[in-house]
Amino acid sequence: MDLTTETENRRGEGGGRLRIDPLYVVAIICFQVLSTGTAAIQFTREPKSQDALHGRSAMLRCEVSDPTDITYSWLHNGQPLENSERRHQEGSNLKFITVDRRQDAGNFECVAQNTAMGEVLHSTNASFNIKWLESGGVTLKEPISEREIENSAPVTLRCHIDGHPRPTCQWFKDGVKLTEKSHQINNKERTLTIKSATPDDNGLFYCCAKNAAGHVCSNSNFTLNIIGMSN
Ligand SMILES: *[C@@H]1O[C@H](CO)[C@@H](O)[C@H](O)[C@H]1NC(C)=O
Ligand SMILES: *[C@@H]1O[C@H](CO)[C@@H](O)[C@H](O)[C@H]1NC(C)=O
Repeated sequence: MDLTTETENRRGEGGGRLRIDPLYVVAIICFQVLSTGTAAIQFTREPKSQDALHGRSAMLRCEVSDPTDITYSWLHNGQPLENSERRHQEGSNLKFITVDRRQDAGNFECVAQNTAMGEVLHSTNASFNIKWLESGGVTLKEPISEREIENSAPVTLRCHIDGHPRPTCQWFKDGVKLTEKSHQINNKERTLTIKSATPDDNGLFYCCAKNAAGHVCSNSNFTLNIIGMSN
């Protein structure tokens, strides 16, 4: 109280309107110095969302401006990340020896903690657009079993190669590429339909597919064997 009155008195004519407690001023200055001091932790590098190939390596980077007293850790889908041989923290970065399309789906976030001040800073989330291609077999889709295949009836085969982005598929019979002219090819469903299958259509059917992740052929083939009617 004494201080306030003294300040007021010293200010003279202007007084009354300006009642500033010097202790209050000191407190504000101290607070500003402290708060700018703690705000010094800033990311100079944050993990970025990126394309990746299943089975290949990748790296998510993280860095703060002043690494003094900083401890880094990573979160995956909000959970602390457990280091493994395949995926582990290397310095401040997160290293993937081989990206896995299932295990590495979702969000990765870098956490920088100042152990002296106790301040914790979270980076933005980053995720992978994982490209992959996986082989599969050729199966009979219609009719439901081989026993039900009839002469002059439709037959539909399905190619079980899958991937991201969606692979484009090609069909082969006895090693010869099939075209849309002779067969009904549905790229979205990855099916091949023979509208009216006869013994002329007999042979070994397989498919191959490609996308940004590579090129593979089916890992099991389908043999069409229609018994002709003996007139
Ligand atoms: C990052 O994603 C996780 C879940 O995957 C979420 O809990 C967290 O709030 C997100 N962080 C930011 C900064 O958006
Ligand atoms: C499928 O057929 C192709 C072409 O004849 C052949 O190269 C491949 O080895 C066959 N695959 C299987 C799994 O039988």
